[in-house]
Amino acid sequence: MLTDTTTRPGIKGQAIIERDHQVMSGALTPRYPFVIERGSGARVWDVDGNEYIDFAAGIAVTAAGHSHPKVVAAIIEQAQKFIHIAGTDYYYEVQVRLAEKLASIAPFSEPARVFLTNSGTEAVEGAIKVARWYTDRKHIIAFYGAFHGRTLGALSLTASKVIQRDGFFPLLPGVHHVPFNNPYRCLHGREEAACREHCICADYITDVLFKRVIPADSVAAIIFEPIQGEGGYVVPDPRFVQQLRDLCDQHGILLIADEVQSGIGRTGKWWAIEHFGVEPDIVCSAKGIASGMPLGAVIARSHVMSWPPGAHGSTFGGNPVSCAAALATLELIESGYMQNAVDQGKYIRSALEEMRPHHPALRHARIDGRGLMIGVELVLDERRTPAKELRARVERLAIQNGLLILGAGESALRICPALMIDRATVEQGLERLDLSLTQAEREAGLL
Ligand SMILES: Cc1ncc(COP(=O)(O)O)c(C=O)c1O
Repeated sequence: MLTDTTTRPGIKGQAIIERDHQVMSGALTPRYPFVIERGSGARVWDVDGNEYIDFAAGIAVTAAGHSHPKVVAAIIEQAQKFIHIAGTDYYYEVQVRLAEKLASIAPFSEPARVFLTNSGTEAVEGAIKVARWYTDRKHIIAFYGAFHGRTLGALSLTASKVIQRDGFFPLLPGVHHVPFNNPYRCLHGREEAACREHCICADYITDVLFKRVIPADSVAAIIFEPIQGEGGYVVPDPRFVQQLRDLCDQHGILLIADEVQSGIGRTGKWWAIEHFGVEPDIVCSAKGIASGMPLGAVIARSHVMSWPPGAHGSTFGGNPVSCAAALATLELIESGYMQNAVDQGKYIRSALEEMRPHHPALRHARIDGRGLMIGVELVLDERRTPAKELRARVERLAIQNGLLILGAGESALRICPALMIDRATVEQGLERLDLSLTQAEREAGLL
């Protein structure tokens, strides 16, 4: 039961937010009025002493939970030895150990090579460069709804929201966006049943793009998110993913899986692409990899990552403290949290199904996901009109009710807590979500 009815943020939080608005760049996405003091596991506390359940995990990042003692110990131990030496110029074992571990879990049968970065967007930049270098081709195919990052190369692949691109043109030439398989909301305007029966998104690449726009043999890579993240936690049909692989094999194109959000055990497997039985050529990773320390990785088939010395580099990429945090995180995920993601994820999805009849916005909603990467697309009616305003109300009310939850896509909520979250915390979080939905629906006159 909720007992805390304090207005959030309180006086201390308000003051920090006001100072922030005076000095921080205004470019950041409008933020939620939550000012953290500390976190532990899947709970956080604000500077005014209010407690929250964290269904957001810092955008699917704090995989082992906030400040897991083993991750903290690994960080301290490494920081006491050395914090930086530049892995681009010198060697250190913790980086090698992490690369060995990532290579061992790469979702393809061939040996892998690894390039470590500081972030997801840099992992995508690295993947674009490897793909162009290896194939000596210029074009890249990406998908509507995709989010691949904000630096100019990665941004060129992103087609999530116009605001993210507007004002920054011209972007990288040679990028072509095509519809992503989403049977619930087919971009070709087809009915869900027809789309599930036969998705035409891959046909579109062959029949339109390769016939009218670019020759297939000029394409270096197809990049996709095995589960679209910022686009709304959209799970594609396995046949579509297989079609992408087939297209790549047919035309000598590389398949890049951007697993920045979906990877590292979040979906109950190391990589979301494993749910589809398809092997990519390159994987991009970041977010959950080091439980919140900045780190990313490009993991490629060894023969693909064959670029020469000097072709790429980074001063901070593969920072030793981040590598130590990553090794501790991967061990925790492997030894239990990945299975926990499966178990808690199943429970959350069935609990959401039980909530369906009680909430107008859930009645025709898309409730989908794998493991602890769950999307709930709120809609107003059976025609699936996106409940955008209602989603904003839920997010706002959730904060007041002690729940951090993020939106994704036009009207979806994403549930992506730490992979260590336990059943009691899940239940409490769902109670708070249930309450927030009810309040939002009342405010909007739907109840
Ligand atoms: C799939 C995907 N790729 C790339 C990125 C960019 O990662 P970062 O914000 O670490 O640069 C994100 C971030 O949300 C993402 O979800």
